[in-house]
Formats: sequence, C-alpha cells, structure tokens
Amino acid sequence: MCVRMIVEKIIPIAREAGKLMVRSGFDVMEKDTSANLVTSSDLAVQQFLVGRLAEILPDAGFFCEENDFGDLNHEYVWIIDPIDGTANYARGIDHCSVSIALAKGGEVIAGVVYSPWRNELFHAEKGSGAFLNGSPIKASDRPLKEGLFCTAMSTYRKEFAKICSDIIYDIYMRSNDVRRFGSAAIELCMVASGQIELFFEMRLQPWDYAAASLILAEAGGVSCGFDGCPMSLSNPSLTLAANNQENLSELLSTVRRHLPELPY
Ligand code: IPD
Ligand code: CA
Ligand code: CA
Repeated sequence: MCVRMIVEKIIPIAREAGKLMVRSGFDVMEKDTSANLVTSSDLAVQQFLVGRLAEILPDAGFFCEENDFGDLNHEYVWIIDPIDGTANYARGIDHCSVSIALAKGGEVIAGVVYSPWRNELFHAEKGSGAFLNGSPIKASDRPLKEGLFCTAMSTYRKEFAKICSDIIYDIYMRSNDVRRFGSAAIELCMVASGQIELFFEMRLQPWDYAAASLILAEAGGVSCGFDGCPMSLSNPSLTLAANNQENLSELLSTVRRHLPELPY
C-alpha cells in the first residue's frame, strides 16, 4: 500500500480517536510523579488506535506511551501518543492532541496530529508537504528577534528546571516572547504552520515528536536533538525546532552554552 493511501486511512481513524477524548466522565490517575497524569481516555484512545491501525498494516509494530506498549523491531512501526497534553486534557484545556506516526526502517514516513477540541488536524506524508485541515502549511520566515518561543520547564524531571530557565531566559531576551501551551506535538505543528518560530524541551519521548517532526520538516521547518542530528525514534531526546536553519543553529548554540553535556 502506498504512503498516500495509508495517510488517507489514518486521518479518519485519528478523528474517531478524538471522539474518545470526552469532555467529562473520565478517571484521572497519577503515573511516576504527581505531575505525570494518565486518564481513562488516554488508555481508551491507545487501545482504539492499536486495534484500528493494525488493520491497515498487520505486520507493523507499535511503540506507544501508555503501559510501555510495543517494540521497535519491525520494518514498519506505529509511534503513538494517545493524548499529548494529558494535564491540559484532564483540566478541560483544549490544547491536547492525538499523535500518530508511521516509521519505516527507522524513518518517519507519515504523521498525523489531531487536536479534537480545536478541530485542527495536521498531516504529512514524506516528500509531499504538510497540511492543516487539508490546506498546505509553511513555517514562517521571521528572524529570531521577532520569533515566538515555545518551551517548557521539564515538568516530569524537575531537577532540570534551573538549566531550562537559564536557556529560556537567554532566548527570551533575544526573541519576541515565550509561550508554554502544554502539548509538544501541537507546538511543533505550530512551528510548521508559521504561528511560532522556536521550540525547546529538555527531554521528550519519541511519541511526543515523531509525527510532528515530519509535519514540521514537510512545512520547511527544522528540528534536532542535542547532537544536532534528528531526534531518536527509540530513546528520549532533547528537542529543538525552528522555522529555519539559522534560528535552529542559534537555539542549539544557546543550549550548548548552558549545557555542555546532556544530563541523562
Ligand atoms: C507532555 C506534553 C507537554 C510536554 C511534556 C510531555 P503528555 O506529554 O507534550 O507539553 O511539556 O514534556 O511529556 O505527558 O501530556 O503526553
Ligand atoms: Ca506526550
Ligand atoms: Ca501522552
């Protein structure tokens, strides 16, 4: 099956998954820290996606956030965050999304990020551009000083908060302003759609950025990890993204100035 046909099948499945992100009546549980939540909706969305996506490619593997589900030892692997922005979701804040990537041979070839409460569906197929609700999107051409910088304070590993705040301060002083929305997948898509220009998080998981990093690249944006190479699809990664290479290089050199070595 060609990638275009696969993407056409993922999109309605993502929209159906979004219907499971009900506004009320779900349970909220803590994971390893009190800041790290999982809801019954995260589990329901993941179970639904695993069932429906397996029908598209029966031999594909899965790598999903909840319950350490899946393994990467397959030619095709679905990399899934059932709800990115669970803390927002649990409080009724609409900045939350379903993130679905398909990797082949270790490279993402299709990505869908769907934010049901905002009715925004981003998608990309490798080599074919990026789209928001079916219309093409493009990263902006704003320079650093006009850029909006989206970031976070390392919510689940608060021992990194001081270094994050130093990096954030440094970029903030040279850019337009800072935002913290709470769904990395949507934020990377917002760089792709030209709404924001810069993104930094100290430690994200592959399911946070797999789909969105393809969407960003297809929209002309760029992203990388601490080593300046693409973020890993198997391990957590520091995550930098920007509307263009010049801003990404500036972000990377700022991070390295404050952080000579990756602390994990
Ligand atoms: C989180 C969100 C958040 C980011 C965290 C992620 P989750 O994902 O993307 O914006 O700051 O680092 O873990 O836990 O809601 O799936
Ligand atoms: Ca996530
Ligand atoms: Ca999640």
